[in-house]
Amino acid sequence: MEPLEHQTLIPLPDELRGPRVLLRPYRAGDAEALFEAVQESREHLRPWMPWADGHQTIEDSREYVNRSAARWVLREDLSVGVWEARGRRYLGGSGMHRINWRLRRFEIGYWLRASAEGQGYVTETVHLLTNLAFDRLDANRVEIRCDARNMRSAAVAERLGFLREARLRNNELAADGSLRDTLIFALVRADRHPPEPER
Ligand SMILES: CC(C)(COP(=O)(O)OP(=O)(O)OC[C@H]1O[C@@H](n2cnc3c(N)ncnc32)[C@H](O)[C@@H]1OP(=O)(O)O)[C@@H](O)C(=O)NCCC(=O)NCCS
Repeated sequence: MEPLEHQTLIPLPDELRGPRVLLRPYRAGDAEALFEAVQESREHLRPWMPWADGHQTIEDSREYVNRSAARWVLREDLSVGVWEARGRRYLGGSGMHRINWRLRRFEIGYWLRASAEGQGYVTETVHLLTNLAFDRLDANRVEIRCDARNMRSAAVAERLGFLREARLRNNELAADGSLRDTLIFALVRADRHPPEPER
C-alpha cells in the first residue's frame, strides 16, 4: 500500500505501561530474550503461529528484531515486545498489523511465552493497544482475527468486548496444512464513542 505523505511523522509513544505490562517497539538487544521465549514455547505456538519455527537460530531473531524496528520507524507495522512492568521479564509479542492509515484500521495480534499464559497479560496488552488506537491514532476500526479452534485467543477478544462479526469458513490453511475457519472480531469508533442520545 502507498504510504501516506508524512507517514513516518505520525506520533507514537516510546512505550505503553499498564499495571503489569510494559509494551515497547523492539530494539537491538531484544533478540536474546525473544529467542529464549520462542525456544521455550515451540509446541505451544506451532498450531497457531507458523512463524515461530522460523526462529531456528539467534540470528533469525536478530533479523526479526531489526526488521520490526525498521517497520516501526516507517509506521508500516507496529510490533511490540511485551515485558513484565516490574521484573522486566520478556513475556511475548503483540502489536498492530495490516495497518491502513487512510482508513485508520488496525489488526491486533498477540502471543505469550508458554510460562506466561493464564495470568491476564495479553488482556492487559490488547486493552492498552486498543486505547492507543482509538484515543491517540484516531482509529475507525480495530480487528482481531483468529483460527476458530483457538479458544484462548477468541476469549481475549470477547473479554475486551470486541464484537464477533464473522466466521470465514475454509478461508485459510492452518499451520499444519488443514483448512481453517477464521473468526473476525472488531471494535469500531461508534462502539467506543457512542453518539449523544437525542433529546
Ligand atoms: C492466545 C494467548 C495469547 C492467550 O493467552 P491467555 O493467557 O489465555 O490470555 P490472557 O493473558 O489474557 O490471560 C487470561 C487468563 O488469565 C487469567 N487471569 C489471571 N489473572 C488475570 C487478570 N489479572 N486479568 C485477566 N485475566 C487473568 C484468566 O482467568 C484467563 O485464564 P483462563 O483462560 O484459564 O480463564 C495464548 O494462549 C498464546 O500465546 N497462544 C499461542 C499463540 C496464539 O494463539 N496467539 C493468537 C493467535 S490469533
